[in-house]
Amino acid sequence: MNKTIQMKMFDVIVWAVALLFAFGLLAGEAMAESKGVAAANATWKAECGSCHLAYPPQLLPASSWRQIMAGLPRHFGADASLDAASAAEIGAFLERNAGSGRRGGEAALRITETRWFLRKHDEVRPSAWNNPQVRTAANCSACHGGAERGDFDEHAVRIPR
Ligand code: HEC
Ligand code: HEC
Repeated sequence: MNKTIQMKMFDVIVWAVALLFAFGLLAGEAMAESKGVAAANATWKAECGSCHLAYPPQLLPASSWRQIMAGLPRHFGADASLDAASAAEIGAFLERNAGSGRRGGEAALRITETRWFLRKHDEVRPSAWNNPQVRTAANCSACHGGAERGDFDEHAVRIPR
């Protein structure tokens, strides 16, 4: 085989692989969307899930995430500082999947202080929040068994007693 034909074949193979890969990604994304699978990012899950639940991005608007990401060294009394690369990746992920509308569009630094959150939980007895197994309203998984999967459906709620 002469050299130029070899080069051309190589080009064709590279393009074919690249196209297959791109289609694979698109198909995967479309499937995740149709199944309603919660958005995920490995860096976010590891860094923002180490002290508490990695709160789903769609529960706060982009402006809130921007503010939270800008204040990590003094994060609700904790130091949650990150290296610049991780912070940039997580910030972009949070903003890309941020919430809007009635649930998720309300600017606040805490999900637990938004009006929709308070309304949805107004039937929870005050003593339930103070239960040692709950401690704080921010401890979503204490009552929402599916919180890690982004599932807060009211049929899967169990308040510890
Ligand atoms: C070093 C521990 C630590 C890390 C790491 C951390 N947090 Fe937090 N975070 C806290 C504490 C402590 C609170 C307050 C919890 C409470 O009130 O019970 C909090 C609260 C929050 C709240 C408000 C919860 C509410 O009340 O609705 C959000 C939102 C939040 N964190 C987002 C993040 C994001 C995004 C990251 C990753 C960039 C992150 N956190 C990483 C310690 C941490
Ligand atoms: C003390 C237990 C408890 C904690 C902690 C808690 N929840 Fe809930 N949550 C409930 C209960 C009970 C309901 C169902 C209210 C009802 O029946 O309408 C609920 C309802 C909800 C709903 C509405 C579900 C629907 O189908 O409409 C969402 C969303 C939700 N919670 C998110 C959260 C998030 C996010 C956190 C943490 C930041 C959290 N919850 C913490 C007990 C809790």
